Amino acid sequence: MVGSPVPPTRVAVLISGSGSNMAALIDATKADDAPYEVVLVLSNKPDAGGLAVAEAKGVPTAAVDHRPFGKDREAHERAIDAILMEHGVEVVALAGYMRLLTPWLVSRWDGRMLNIHPSLLPKYPGLDTHARAIEAGDTEAGCTVHLVTEGVDEGPALGQAAVPVLADDTPAALAQRVLTAEHRLYPETLAAFCRDR
Ligand code: GAR
Repeated sequence: MVGSPVPPTRVAVLISGSGSNMAALIDATKADDAPYEVVLVLSNKPDAGGLAVAEAKGVPTAAVDHRPFGKDREAHERAIDAILMEHGVEVVALAGYMRLLTPWLVSRWDGRMLNIHPSLLPKYPGLDTHARAIEAGDTEAGCTVHLVTEGVDEGPALGQAAVPVLADDTPAALAQRVLTAEHRLYPETLAAFCRDR
């Protein structure tokens, strides 16, 4: 007997900047058997370049500026969460979302929130990952997609991709090489995650 087809998982992508990973996540949904659809792109920065990119791709967008909330990070997240609920979001993908999350939002999306980080975690959580890899003399760098937990960049890894560090690398050149790998890794890993749900 053939069961009814499983509807694609409803994913929201959270961004703060140019959103090239977000664009890769949307582009991957063009495949016939895509296990997820991007139903919302949301930014904490109303002027994030990625919002226009998402709109041009026909994906609904929202901005919840963090500044009016001052130090009340949870209130900002509650406003975001209300919009996620309105859109029937099932899984959240952080893609260059540069805000630290409170335990409230993390527990709300426990096991349903992914992040991409530009290092081979557990190496180099936090910022300036490429400069740190070059400074350490690493011959390999890369990126990690992981589940979000309370510890910053500490959740279980779902996928990793490595790239070489070249002899004359600059942080910017390495970042670009890693970013190209991110654009492959994130859609693949999110698709596998959604298939397995
Ligand atoms: C990506 O390299 C992503 O891994 C990184 O920000 C960049 C966003 O680029 N994320 C972090 O550093 C999170 N700690 P994008 O906006 O073009 O996708």
